[in-house]
Amino acid sequence: MNYIGSKLSLLKFLEKSINKVVDKNCSTFCDLFAGTGIVGSYFKKKGYKIVANDIQYYSYVLNRHYIGNHKELPFSVLIKEIPELKNIETKKRKDFVCNYLSNLKGTKGFIYKNYCFGGTKDKKEPRQYFSDENGLRCDAIRQKIEGWKKENMISDDEYYFLITSLVESIDKYANTASVYGAFLKKLKKTAQNNMVLKPAELIINNKDHEVFNDDINEVAKKIEGDILYLDPPYNQRQYATNYHLLETIAKYDNPKIHGKTGLREYQNQKSFYCSRTQVKKAFEDLISKARAKYIFLSYNNEGLMSRKDIKEIMSKRGEYGYFSKKYNRFKADKDTNRKHAASKTLEYLHYVICE
Ligand SMILES: C[S@@+](CC[C@H](N)C(=O)[O-])C[C@H]1O[C@@H](n2cnc3c(N)ncnc32)[C@H](O)[C@@H]1O
Repeated sequence: MNYIGSKLSLLKFLEKSINKVVDKNCSTFCDLFAGTGIVGSYFKKKGYKIVANDIQYYSYVLNRHYIGNHKELPFSVLIKEIPELKNIETKKRKDFVCNYLSNLKGTKGFIYKNYCFGGTKDKKEPRQYFSDENGLRCDAIRQKIEGWKKENMISDDEYYFLITSLVESIDKYANTASVYGAFLKKLKKTAQNNMVLKPAELIINNKDHEVFNDDINEVAKKIEGDILYLDPPYNQRQYATNYHLLETIAKYDNPKIHGKTGLREYQNQKSFYCSRTQVKKAFEDLISKARAKYIFLSYNNEGLMSRKDIKEIMSKRGEYGYFSKKYNRFKADKDTNRKHAASKTLEYLHYVICE
């Protein structure tokens, strides 16, 4: 997923740098601002036990699947509704179920009625976040998954796999420049294609992982691990507003929405890490509470906290150091031609070896 602050293209840099610092006996990796789960997934593949967390529910869903799920998903009970599944190899059943859902007839549900042109054209604020067809498909699929869950036709593991597949798939057809803070007036090319539900990758391994959906400063009190990796927001852009539609599709809770963009309430998801006045205090509290042998922090040279602040706070726990790398800043669609102050930023990985 094209996500603000995604570390997809920095994975090798992170791994190389982390390996230069940690000892060989580390077996637990905590990714507590987990976002898309890409960092946790990478280290899960390297054999670590992962602890993941994020304040956003869609991110919890992604991590509950990419991190939490580590065995095949047999969809055994669903055979009652889809008898063909019985003759399909267990490994391939998840693809079959996604294909089945992709072929459902569309339904006029919350997404179509509030975020597609067909459903909003008579309202004061028409919206076009998805094509009508994709809104209808999204509602049909989401309602089917919820129905299966209510009737105990699918397990929790299967449920989170399916919602992850839907969140990741629908995002590829969104009629936005990149995030959900605004939609485009005309349907862009990729948004005109009909959504196909692509099965999310399943990462098999033999460890039990843990996934939380809470404020990091709360989670840090409860957990312990060898490596604690921190990737907070760097600036004032709240994830709750930039990804509000993914939150609603993941929760499907018919929220009260308002304004041009149909924003849901997000008071309890406002992050201190996006506040110039609160970030330092929150970070200080987090670092003082964290129970880990090594703490790593990703941050860039344009973030709300200065390098001096970070060094001062982290050094209180032990020996401090950092790695750095030139990096291309987060971009919206290539064709939107937005002007940026600078095209490259400096990405830092700060660390402290805790005493
Ligand atoms: C820079 S992104 C992480 C990106 C992630 N490493 C990836 O590659 O996809 C920051 C994440 O922190 C989450 N977040 C912000 N404030 C938080 C808080 N107080 N507690 C937990 N998560 C928080 C956001 O929802 C967002 O997903």
